[in-house]
Amino acid sequence: MNNTNVIKNYGNKMDKIITVEAKPNIAFVKYWGKRDLKLNLPKNSSISMTLSNATLDGEPFKTVTSLVFSDKLNEDEFYLNGKKIDTSNKDEAKGFWIIDYIRNIAGDKRHVMLVSNNSFPTSNGLASSASGLAAMAYATVKALDLDISDKELSTIARMGSGSASRSIYGGIVLWHKGEKEDGSDSYSEPIKISPYWNDLVDLICITNSTKKKVSSTAGMQTTVQTSEFYKMRPDYAEKNIKEIMKALEENNFNSFADIIMKDSNNMHATMIDSKPPIIYINDISRDIINSIEELNKREGKNIAAYTLDAGPNPHIIVKKENIKKVEDAIKDIEGIEKILKVQISETGCRLLGDEESLIKEDGLKLIPK
Ligand code: PMV
Repeated sequence: MNNTNVIKNYGNKMDKIITVEAKPNIAFVKYWGKRDLKLNLPKNSSISMTLSNATLDGEPFKTVTSLVFSDKLNEDEFYLNGKKIDTSNKDEAKGFWIIDYIRNIAGDKRHVMLVSNNSFPTSNGLASSASGLAAMAYATVKALDLDISDKELSTIARMGSGSASRSIYGGIVLWHKGEKEDGSDSYSEPIKISPYWNDLVDLICITNSTKKKVSSTAGMQTTVQTSEFYKMRPDYAEKNIKEIMKALEENNFNSFADIIMKDSNNMHATMIDSKPPIIYINDISRDIINSIEELNKREGKNIAAYTLDAGPNPHIIVKKENIKKVEDAIKDIEGIEKILKVQISETGCRLLGDEESLIKEDGLKLIPK
């Protein structure tokens, strides 16, 4: 526990303001489809890398969350990026209910103040639920002093947002789909990798910075219910997991990249096969895909891999030494608003000192900074 966090005593209870940092992750083999909606249990396992808290150009790339349980609060208060959020609004306060879940485990009745800021470079339309919900789960557990393992924490974060379970850890992370109905075996764990993979970089090509039209939850449901192609997807993804683990073990970038690209294309094919079709990619994403295919062909092996989540912004996974080649390959594509270069992160969720706190105490009041 980081003892620089503020500890104050009012009456019988300690009000502990906890401040944490979490980062997004990018999946190599994707999660798309739930076997349980409430618990966010996935149809297949997935594997990702956690991204660094700053871009190579020095711009922040993280979620910072401060949280306090206190008798001084008359209701739960949630502030996201400076805006007060209605905690009963399930869309805006996505996953907020996991705080209740943890509060019940701790047997604590105090209200909570949660202040969270996503410091990603301006309006880039990046999904922030993975880092946001990982930070929420981690901060809650720390504030309530619960003795919970990272594995259990990953199952709690998962209930807020599936991909959040992977952001608990740094490095490359495997989320096991699990078999049990209660979700207790659907957890994430970090994978041991050789230093060969320490220089992985994600080049995030921003082609559209507006909010996505179909949320991942709604998109997954439509795909699972209506796509014929989807029937083969869970088995295919499990096969990809096995193969990518082998490629990681063998330091085989060529095969690693092949699986990443095939898995992304396969997921998007099931989306397009849905009724109504769900089309996240745009013309610019398609041009980027083609340019990377051509670059790999020219090189005679895969030196870069594209992958797209539920949005039009391609992520290009590359070893640091090949960034320039990728930049040259896509430089003439019109419409790329920005390229964010983000390295793999060694750390997952971590505590920050109280100088970074987003909550301040003003007399007997707690207020968001
Ligand atoms: O965890 P969610 O609800 O944000 O879903 C994430 C889904 C994808 O980003 C498309 C794939 C993944 O595994 O991250």
